[in-house]
Amino acid sequence: TNARITLDPAFAVGPVRRRTFGSFVEHLGRAVYTGIHEPDHPTADENGFRQDVIDLTRELGVSTVRYPGGNFVSGYRWEDGIGPVDQRPTRLDLAWHSSDPNHVGVDEFLKWSKASGTEPMMAVNLGTRGVQEALDILEYCNVPGGTHYSDLRRKNGAEEPYRIKMWCLGNEMDGPWQIGHKTAEEYARLATETARAMRMIDPAIELVACGSSGSGMPTFGEWERIVLTEAYEDVDYISAHAYYYEEDGDLASFLASAVDMDHFIDSVAATADAVRAARKLTKTIHISFDEWNVWYQKRAESRPPTGDDWPVAPVLLEDHYNVADAVVVGNLLISLLRHTDRVHAASQAQLVNVIAPMMTEPGGRAWKQTIFHPFALTSQHAAGQVLQLAIDSPGHETAKFGEVAALDAVATHDAETGEVVVFAVNRSTTDELTLAVDTSAFGDLRVVEAVTLSNPDHTWQASADDDSSVAPRPNESAAVTGGQLTAALAPVSWSMLRLA
Ligand code: AHR
Repeated sequence: TNARITLDPAFAVGPVRRRTFGSFVEHLGRAVYTGIHEPDHPTADENGFRQDVIDLTRELGVSTVRYPGGNFVSGYRWEDGIGPVDQRPTRLDLAWHSSDPNHVGVDEFLKWSKASGTEPMMAVNLGTRGVQEALDILEYCNVPGGTHYSDLRRKNGAEEPYRIKMWCLGNEMDGPWQIGHKTAEEYARLATETARAMRMIDPAIELVACGSSGSGMPTFGEWERIVLTEAYEDVDYISAHAYYYEEDGDLASFLASAVDMDHFIDSVAATADAVRAARKLTKTIHISFDEWNVWYQKRAESRPPTGDDWPVAPVLLEDHYNVADAVVVGNLLISLLRHTDRVHAASQAQLVNVIAPMMTEPGGRAWKQTIFHPFALTSQHAAGQVLQLAIDSPGHETAKFGEVAALDAVATHDAETGEVVVFAVNRSTTDELTLAVDTSAFGDLRVVEAVTLSNPDHTWQASADDDSSVAPRPNESAAVTGGQLTAALAPVSWSMLRLA
């Protein structure tokens, strides 16, 4: 089977944005406690953060980290998490039926951001709270001093303001599961007024309004239209969230999940542009795809405790990922990159233990899941401009999306280094693809590195004892001759082909 791509540096979509490679740490399960934070761990730093997790976060190439939720934030009192740790209250976390001792709060998280070299992206509670509390946490974080909350921050050890740029106006307010769930009209008013007031404190912040929790939400499309009709001038981004999983053994549809992500992004962009036209405005609203991943939501591990059981940091949403999951994650990154003109930020949900590329053993080691690799390699090597591709690929039928192309790909071109990188997936469950890439527009190129993540058994997973045998391996078939790159792509595979 043959699939063809034509590359040309003249056809660029826009720059690769570092913020595409964001992640997410929620007070949920073992993401914070025994995830990033474990004071008794042998690698813990002076603030109780696991150095092994910090090291893996750097290796993963994470840019922004969204915090502290997620569904958690819609019941969160941020003031519980500041001041002397031993005086902080333990609270019920209704979203995940857990208890939170508040040992980690905003000051600790900002220390972790610094240690991990990541940019914080804060969410405010618009579920049980409103404009005032959003202003209070912004004052605490971003005002230099001389006021109640800014001086409290200084008293708590942070002399300089954090100057956090990215702020989410609540979380998934379209979802009936959300504490303080709202209609689009109710949320539109609250988000707009919160945004206006927050900008009075700090005009430099960038604000994300909640979009839809998935393209399958009954309010999808209308929600964005109503929220943006009200909030257009006061926000910079509208969010999008999407989780995918293999259902009822339908691997072909699962592997084509990026078809839904493409449709989601295109629909939200079209809706935002329709509002712009109707309201006679000029600025463009961008998309913050601030929750995306593979998540087996129906598995028992995703169900919170019940009754009188309100544990601290229970095992929740600890999905173990196989090779097919990693191929889908790689393909979702391809989709995000190809939309770099509209997607200006994204966060994989989440970073550690909770639907995450890395896992920790309490007191023990931190290890990489299969999905770690496509994220790390794409983050490390996508650079310069994203290129528009002409793709010609055989197709196959899927139950969910009809006919889909077996090949999906994106390419980047870094004019400074001269490097061209092709990220490609073969979504066929059965057939190898022989990929031919016309690179003649770039002159002479040679293969710098070619790797493929695949396995004859696509259900192969990493474990705490063996997380290295699932890593991508050199693809020996890749070669350039006469302005054409060829490579064999195994079924159910993700590949990175670097040329220079
Ligand atoms: O990431 C897990 C959960 O998924 C988040 O808390 C919520 O925002 C979404 O529904």
